[in-house]
Amino acid sequence: MFSHRLHDTILSFIGGGNMATALIQGLVRSGLKGSNIRVSEPDSVRSKKLHEEFGVVLEPDNATAARDGHLVVVAVKPGIVPRVLGEMALHLGKETLIVSIAAGVSIDRIRASLPQGQPVIRAMPNTPALVGEGVTVLCPGPDVTGPQMALGEALLGTVGGVRTVGDESLMDGITALSGSGPAYLYLIMEALSDAGVACGLPRDLASWLAVHTVKGSAALVQESGQHPGVLKYQVTSPGGTTIAALQVLEEAGIRGTLMRAVAAAWRRSRELSQ
Ligand SMILES: NC(=O)c1ccc[n+]([C@@H]2O[C@H](COP(=O)([O-])OP(=O)(O)OC[C@H]3O[C@@H](n4cnc5c(N)ncnc54)[C@H](OP(=O)(O)O)[C@@H]3O)[C@@H](O)[C@H]2O)c1
Repeated sequence: MFSHRLHDTILSFIGGGNMATALIQGLVRSGLKGSNIRVSEPDSVRSKKLHEEFGVVLEPDNATAARDGHLVVVAVKPGIVPRVLGEMALHLGKETLIVSIAAGVSIDRIRASLPQGQPVIRAMPNTPALVGEGVTVLCPGPDVTGPQMALGEALLGTVGGVRTVGDESLMDGITALSGSGPAYLYLIMEALSDAGVACGLPRDLASWLAVHTVKGSAALVQESGQHPGVLKYQVTSPGGTTIAALQVLEEAGIRGTLMRAVAAAWRRSRELSQ
């Protein structure tokens, strides 16, 4: 029987790797009982850890996990999604909701391996989900009801912010911006730390300043509701240090470089989704 309340739902995870662990942690933190969570994961060290840490129930195989869950999260690498769907297909209830977090695997490709009418949501989370600060965009397939969508939002909402799009072709741009985005910011933080060291700061202090400057600046944009350009004006005094640095960044074409980088990830995501 389908319930739209997350806490009344049996959730089965196919794959118990990094993203599944982040979600399980978020679910347990939000009050879901470990006994409501089922995991099918071939790596016995990883599955034992999930059982000991969160009290999840370990399943012997994907077919059993599919049979037991009201909601099944497909959290394996994209290349093996067709195989695991094939193992699950005959064991799913008619209303069992499938949430796939596999990058680049379209709703049509997922539905093609499942019984006709199986509800499927495609999701693109990112790794800050590991600390409850992720962002996820969901896209519902044609057979997903409103209450099922609410359940999908509640699931991903345990590890950060959630938005929904109706147009699946946007998922490539989302992958390029927020899916790959943490790597762009890690690179920037690493470079800022190096820059601090070049100015004579100890590495520890430089890294701490770099990370907290990025974190605090993002929090200020979010909490003030101000446009980033306005906040930039506020720290840019005439003839001062900040404008001297900004001039170098603009001369190096940092805006265009970031735009070209995201466009390259977008094109690559489209190629991989073919
Ligand atoms: N990490 C990200 O930033 C991110 C962001 C958005 C979306 N995603 C998507 O999330 C999915 C999972 O990524 P991840 O980073 O969590 O990968 P991961 O850590 O490698 O987790 C995948 C898990 O699935 C297990 N597995 C392999 N074959 C299986 C099978 N036949 N049945 C059940 N489980 C099986 C793997 O076990 P073994 O290691 O023993 O093979 C592994 O523990 C991917 O499709 C990825 O595209 C990831």
